Amino acid sequence: MQGNKATNRNKITCPALGTTYEGGDVQLLEHVLPLVDFVEVTPDSMAEYQQERPVLPDHAIGELKDIGSDAHVIVHGVGLSIGTHDGYSETYLQIVDKLLDHVAVEWHSEHLGYVNVDGQHLGTMLAVSKTGQVLDILCERIKTIQQRYGIPFLIENIVHILPDFDGEFSDAAFLNALANRTGCGLILDVYNLECDAHNHGFDIPRFLAELEMEHVREIHLAGGVIDRGFRLDVHSRITDDSTIALARQVIAAAPNLRTVTYELLPEAVPKLGYRAIAGELKRLRQALMN
Ligand SMILES: [Fe+2]
Ligand SMILES: [Fe+2]
Repeated sequence: MQGNKATNRNKITCPALGTTYEGGDVQLLEHVLPLVDFVEVTPDSMAEYQQERPVLPDHAIGELKDIGSDAHVIVHGVGLSIGTHDGYSETYLQIVDKLLDHVAVEWHSEHLGYVNVDGQHLGTMLAVSKTGQVLDILCERIKTIQQRYGIPFLIENIVHILPDFDGEFSDAAFLNALANRTGCGLILDVYNLECDAHNHGFDIPRFLAELEMEHVREIHLAGGVIDRGFRLDVHSRITDDSTIALARQVIAAAPNLRTVTYELLPEAVPKLGYRAIAGELKRLRQALMN
């Protein structure tokens, strides 16, 4: 059963503004909930181990239901590993099963990548090879997930930690094909594009010109760091002006965009501070929605 609580939600602007939240920080919620329309949660980060299995605890469900009375909840996992050769993580989907049984969610999403190989977690996420064979496998998996939940499912572009495998599709053509063949939406993480441009010379204007913008439902924004010349997708800072400019470009071109989500790791919250995070959300709304 989905939650159906009366809401105090803000009137949604277009596109709306969202931010990430991983549970257990009441003060953060008090600061951000008046400023956002969407709260994006990572269910596997909120899960706790019970008898050696990750399970979403009842207190997390309760917290998400409460959030749902102030903002729309969207789900963004990290553990599905949709690109693992011998199958995605059923354990992750069982966490989502429980969440969606109890909380009303607008859509859920995952990354176009993989974190598991031969049952081992890599400790990072790697991009899939963009071949026809991989495309066929991913389309089947996305369709199965769509049928399982009956709510929209979005796929996000990830950073390329390693140089790309020389596949049969460009990045944009691969995302276009996934969306056209399955009806899934896309999250366009513009900070990830900037990381790829910095680290591997990725051609952002060419990518954006080729991407079919009608599939983009959500934009991700973040601020990170450059470490020994490598731009990292750690979400630990406020957003650079260049990232905001890129988001504005996508907003102008994406007719079905629903929200722009500012991503911040929970570890970065004490460092930035609640007031600075609230200030960043106000700045983003001003910069992106005018
Ligand atoms: Fe993500
Ligand atoms: Fe992202």
